[in-house]
Amino acid sequence: MTSPSFRLDGAAALVTGAAGGIGARVAIGLAEFGADVACVDLTTDPMAPTVAAIERLGRRALALPADASDPGQMGEAVARTVAELGPLRHAVNCAGIHDNAPTETMSLAVWQRKHPDVWEHVQAYAKDIPLGRLAETEELVGPVIFLLSDAASYCTGANLMVDGGAVCW
Ligand SMILES: NC(=O)c1ccc[n+]([C@@H]2O[C@H](COP(=O)([O-])OP(=O)(O)OC[C@H]3O[C@@H](n4cnc5c(N)ncnc54)[C@H](O)[C@@H]3O)[C@@H](O)[C@H]2O)c1
Repeated sequence: MTSPSFRLDGAAALVTGAAGGIGARVAIGLAEFGADVACVDLTTDPMAPTVAAIERLGRRALALPADASDPGQMGEAVARTVAELGPLRHAVNCAGIHDNAPTETMSLAVWQRKHPDVWEHVQAYAKDIPLGRLAETEELVGPVIFLLSDAASYCTGANLMVDGGAVCW
């Protein structure tokens, strides 16, 4: 009997939102487990640290500017990924909007997009999570690697709750 492998060696992966918190950490996590990673975000410059971290791990990385909500742009991103990294094996969609911050450090532009109570609501919500806190981006890597790897070879379309127990089944 062999142990299931969590490795993603040599596989091409694509991560949207790769300039931001979860997407950046997940993109680097995929490289830590051996994948080459196409990083997609609205612009390329903010992805430079993610790309550099992946390359330091000895893996190939692409920085591809694309709007994840635009099928045409995503089609081009996938085509470039396949052309430069090989057949696309893994995709992780982390693109989204998540710009909470303590009120005293929030920029005016972000402040103007938000209801002033949002951060307080998030803190109150966190107290009700059984683990008593929000997740660290680091804590999203393991579940993503599991779902993408051969260790999850019989999981199809499964919802894996990564919520500190917020939704108790
Ligand atoms: N951080 C959390 O605790 C948490 C919890 C639950 C859900 N989420 C959700 O997960 C997602 C990611 O969260 P995060 O904390 O990494 O956010 P983040 O803001 O740090 O990163 C999101 C990234 O997505 C990119 N992006 C936004 N719209 C895009 C688009 N149309 N095309 C391509 N890229 C785009 C942004 O430029 C940014 O780099 C968000 O939707 C958030 O609401 C976050």
